[in-house]
Amino acid sequence: MKIVGLTYDLKTDYQFQEGDPPDANAEFDHPSTVDVIANAIASQGFQVKKIGNANSLLENINNLGVDIVFNLSEGLYGRNRESQVPILLEMAGIPFVGSDALTLGLTLDKIIAKKIFIAEGISTPKFFEIKTMDNLLDSDHLNFPLIVKPRFEGSSKGLSEKSRVENMQELRAQAEFIINTYKQPALVEEFIIGQEFTVAIVGNDPPEVLPVVQIKIDGSLQLDEKFYTFARISSDRLEYICPAPISQELNKKICDLALSSYNVVDCLDFGRIDFRVDNAGNPYVLEINPLPSLSTEDVFCLLAKLKGMSYEQLIGRILNIALTRYGLQ
Ligand SMILES: Nc1ncnc2c1ncn2[C@@H]1O[C@H](COP(=O)(O)OP(=O)(O)O)[C@@H](O)[C@H]1O
Ligand SMILES: [Mg+2]
Repeated sequence: MKIVGLTYDLKTDYQFQEGDPPDANAEFDHPSTVDVIANAIASQGFQVKKIGNANSLLENINNLGVDIVFNLSEGLYGRNRESQVPILLEMAGIPFVGSDALTLGLTLDKIIAKKIFIAEGISTPKFFEIKTMDNLLDSDHLNFPLIVKPRFEGSSKGLSEKSRVENMQELRAQAEFIINTYKQPALVEEFIIGQEFTVAIVGNDPPEVLPVVQIKIDGSLQLDEKFYTFARISSDRLEYICPAPISQELNKKICDLALSSYNVVDCLDFGRIDFRVDNAGNPYVLEINPLPSLSTEDVFCLLAKLKGMSYEQLIGRILNIALTRYGLQ
């Protein structure tokens, strides 16, 4: 029986420091989420060994005794945090599920990812960066409304109703908030007024694009100026609609862009791509997540059900895709 190690960060492992934003541990897992995934892996005929976070991995790296690691770890600080577990495993020659350190780093940093998308002709909202409050003024070539996000965070961290800004004064205030609170540059994008979608992909040669999921907020698919804030994620004001009630033409455009994004950053085994579509029907890639949530409330679980698969089978499938990639099947 193959032994599968599990790496993850628990919300309770996070030691809040003075000055940390309230959502500092937003991406970390509840123990129950880790248990659900561990049980799902076990149900598919594997033995599970819980390893924990990057520090626990480092301490035990020479005697893990696992055939492969299922990595859920988001890491602690900075744009390389998601790369920490994969790089340790790569150094030790231990196979792992999902994308490698380079892909995780370059996609967590939304600006690097956007530069790659632009170079490859993948449509993404126009943007500029505010590194310090001094370089704000040479950045007035985009049209308001804009959205101000942290450069390398996920899970809607740093996003609130104030993130969509309508004028210079609001832009200045929000950029200052991001730089000071999240200790990183602010990414400012044109705000795409319209609808929102997310697309999950599984597999490698070739990857399979799963049905497009549409985001409904406060009962409405036409989001216009609404968007996915940290507060909304933890409320019931947000629903996933699948299949998305959209034209075949838009569906194809979104799926093609999702697949190109997955391929261009060398995503492996699974990933999820977030989109906004403006009211003229033009899709824009917001970001690609090579380490998307596999929790039972999330998109992957919903899609598994739609395909007539159980949650456990979905986790087993992702694991088997990785085992095949390493020739371990
Ligand atoms: N350019 C944009 N136009 C409109 N809404 C946006 C834009 N960028 C982000 N959003 C909203 O903010 C949410 C989070 O942004 P995203 O770039 O996906 O970061 P993350 O999910 O990593 O926090 C999106 O799901 C969307 O609702
Ligand atoms: Mg997102």
